[in-house]
Amino acid sequence: MNKSVHIYSPATVANVGPGFDILGFALDQPGDEMLVEKTEGDQHIIIDESGTGLPLDPFRNVATVAIDAMLDDLGSSQKFHLTFLKKIAPGSGIGSSAASSAGAVYGANQLLGSPYTNLELVPFAMKGEKTASGSAHADNVAPALLGGFVLVRSYDPLDIVSIPGPEGLYCCIVYPEISIATEDSRKILKTTVPLEKAIAQCGNVAGLVTGLITGDFRLISNSMQDVIAEPIRSFLIPEYDEVKKAALEAGALGCSISGSGPSIFALSENEDTAQKAGKQMEKVFASAEIGSSVFVSRVNKQGIKILSEES
Ligand code: HSE
Repeated sequence: MNKSVHIYSPATVANVGPGFDILGFALDQPGDEMLVEKTEGDQHIIIDESGTGLPLDPFRNVATVAIDAMLDDLGSSQKFHLTFLKKIAPGSGIGSSAASSAGAVYGANQLLGSPYTNLELVPFAMKGEKTASGSAHADNVAPALLGGFVLVRSYDPLDIVSIPGPEGLYCCIVYPEISIATEDSRKILKTTVPLEKAIAQCGNVAGLVTGLITGDFRLISNSMQDVIAEPIRSFLIPEYDEVKKAALEAGALGCSISGSGPSIFALSENEDTAQKAGKQMEKVFASAEIGSSVFVSRVNKQGIKILSEES
């Protein structure tokens, strides 16, 4: 069995427009690197080489909370040494905590001889999400572990379904230099939904999933409407309406908040349009004197991957 594994854990876009808490997909980049090693010690050790201010206390760090959930299930007392090189900024809305918790359980599982499948690791990684935001949502950790588009058909019982997406689909992410905690942006949402909004949202989720499976870009575009979270959360993101307008005018199929924000994502039929959309979106932030980073990426089909391992 290996002693250490060096992994890449991708950023993810949760919600994907209308799919609040139930749809997500993985990106090729950005992504975090993490070195997971077995240790003989009696507690987990966390090293943050990225200086992102991660909690180093194993009871508060999402990665070790997720690993402990797995070890409890397994009845194992093994401890791990985790070295983080994070590229996904915490509070950016592209699954920073998910990359840590999913990456950690993936790495630890590998070093224990893979007693679990990637699908079986999802509930453990969700415990990390609960620590990060107070909510055990799966729409970041499941695509991080499985790659591609993922639907959370049900939370109780947990039912995760992988969805094929069209080959040419590209995503651009524009991350403005502000931070929004998922916990805060969940608190502002209403806890009840009027019937007409529920109907509109169900229609759009069903349309989006159908469009992804059949490769119908027009249907994907028509279905990228969120009437529940976006109207409330968009107030937290300066210039949101203008940025979205710029993406659509550049030819994007649809544009919405990535996860709980502040990152904004746009889906496009090809790389060229995704690049153009990203540039126009960035320009809107720049004209409001808000710096931003742009990432253009295909949908990542593999999820977390091993960069190297040592036995
Ligand atoms: N579905 C979650 C939310 C994702 O929108 O709160 C957080 O990344």
